[in-house]
Amino acid sequence: MSLYSPEFEADVSWPAEATRRMNRMYRWQRHIYDGTRRYYLLGRDRLISGLQPAPGSNVLEIGCGTGRNLVLAAGLYPEARFFGIDVSTEMLTSAITAISRRGMTDHIRVAHGHGTAVDPQLLFGLPSFDHVMISYSLSMIPDWRRVLAAAAIRLRPGGRLHLVDFGNQERLPGIARALLLRWLRKFDVTPRDDLEAVLSTMAESTGADLKFERPFRGYAQYAVLTLPPEPKRP
Ligand SMILES: C[S@@+](CC[C@H](N)C(=O)[O-])C[C@H]1O[C@@H](n2cnc3c(N)ncnc32)[C@H](O)[C@@H]1O
Repeated sequence: MSLYSPEFEADVSWPAEATRRMNRMYRWQRHIYDGTRRYYLLGRDRLISGLQPAPGSNVLEIGCGTGRNLVLAAGLYPEARFFGIDVSTEMLTSAITAISRRGMTDHIRVAHGHGTAVDPQLLFGLPSFDHVMISYSLSMIPDWRRVLAAAAIRLRPGGRLHLVDFGNQERLPGIARALLLRWLRKFDVTPRDDLEAVLSTMAESTGADLKFERPFRGYAQYAVLTLPPEPKRP
C-alpha cells in the first residue's frame, strides 16, 4: 500500500473488540499508571524533547493513554496544538481529567479511535498533522504495521513520525531478558522486532529519512521518520 494512496480510507466504525480489551487492561491500572510507568517506559521524555514543533504545528499522539505525554509536550511547546486518540475509553477518562486539571483544554484535544483509522478531518477538523508520536503503543496493537501506514498518510509532506517502544532486549543478560519478556506478555506487550525493517521499507518507498536507535542496551527502540517535502511519485 502506498503511503500516499488516495484509496486509504479510515475505518471509522466503533472498534468494539479493541476497546473492550484495552478497557479490561486499564480499568484499574489507569489509576496507578503514571506513577508506575515512569520507571520502565524509558525514552518518552527524549521523544518529547525531540518533537520541536514549529509554532502553530499540529501534533497527534496515537495511543495517548492517560495524556501524560500530551500534557508534558503542551507545557514545553505552548505554541503548538496537541491531539490524542486512544481506543480505551478508560484511558481517555484519565487523559481528559489530566488535561482539564492543568487548564490545557485549549491546547489539547483527545478523541476515541483506533490507531489504524486516524481521520484528522472527522476527529479534529484538520487536513493533516505536522507530527505524529507513538509511544509504547505499537507493542500492544496487533495490526501495528497498519497503524504506521495510517500515521504516515496523515502527515503533511515534510512531517515527522516519532516512535519509542520496547526493543527486543538483545543486549540485556539472558535471564533478565527472559524475565522481562515474560512479564511484558502479561500486559499484552510484544516488542516489534521487525520495526526497523518495516520503517526502512517505508522510508525507501517514500523517500523519507529514517533515524533509528536501540537505546538502553536494546531495552527500547527509538525512531524518527521525516517525510520528504514533496511526495515521491511512483
Ligand atoms: C502502554 S500505553 C502507552 C500510553 C502513552 N502513549 C504513554 O507513553 O504513556 C498503550 C496505550 O495504547 C492504547 N491502545 C492500544 N491499542 C490501541 C489501538 N488499537 N488504537 C489506539 N490506541 C490503542 C491503550 O489503550 C493504551 O492507552
